[in-house]
Amino acid sequence: MLKHLELKPNKQGCKGNKITMTNKNKGMMKEFTQKDLASLANQLSCPSGTSGIEVGNKMHQTNISMTQKALEAAQILSNQVVLELGHGNAAHLEQILAKAQGVTYHGLDVSETMYEQAQKLNKEFVEVQKAKFSLYDGTNIPYDVATFDKIITVNTIYFWQQPAQLVRELYRVLKPQGSLSIAFAQKSSMESLPFTKYEFALYDTDTVTELLEKERFRVVNVVDQYEQINSKIEGLNERDFTVVTVQK
Ligand SMILES: C[S@@+](CC[C@H](N)C(=O)[O-])C[C@H]1O[C@@H](n2cnc3c(N)ncnc32)[C@H](O)[C@@H]1O
Repeated sequence: MLKHLELKPNKQGCKGNKITMTNKNKGMMKEFTQKDLASLANQLSCPSGTSGIEVGNKMHQTNISMTQKALEAAQILSNQVVLELGHGNAAHLEQILAKAQGVTYHGLDVSETMYEQAQKLNKEFVEVQKAKFSLYDGTNIPYDVATFDKIITVNTIYFWQQPAQLVRELYRVLKPQGSLSIAFAQKSSMESLPFTKYEFALYDTDTVTELLEKERFRVVNVVDQYEQINSKIEGLNERDFTVVTVQK
């Protein structure tokens, strides 16, 4: 397992450091320095560089069941237009497009590395305009009013810099009756992980629903799930997660 994290300056859009993993230090989690943990949190919030690609692969493997639960909750129908915020490497895109005939997908992320990886892994769908990926600033959604039928986002809420403004934006770009499904790991599961004291804002169901209801959304479905994970992310072996679905 590659454990040692070497800091490099980040040249990309989102803030933070680029880290490179080497095999110099084959220690357990407890041997990580605070700097290492801060860098890991930074990579999870905005993967960058070669290590970011590796983190993107690990995130996909670790989080695929959360993504699948979010998709179940979203109930994507034929010809619907879907937005995903924070797609990571989007290795799951094929599963989204397979949900129904004629689905069109738009992905937004703040990480240039994830934007590039997602385009590369999903070239065939981008070429036939079933999928489009764009970078954005993390708050202001570059789409018109009432563009999307469904919006999903998985493991991103912890990193939202301006949550109320972003939720207002999500409301704006949804069509009337459109829905937003947010999948997140519960604060109670996440707070014991040593890297979540950096970068992460942790939520429980009440704080998520309060945030959404303040911006006029109506809660239509809450799904709670416990999972044991063969996680590639250090220390993350099990978690309680929730998918909250709200409607415009
Ligand atoms: C922990 S990863 C989760 C990736 C993927 N959804 C998954 O569950 O495997 C967080 C992703 O959200 C992106 N991200 C962070 N802040 C964001 C924001 N405000 N809006 C959209 N994406 C964001 C990161 O660049 C990264 O790709």
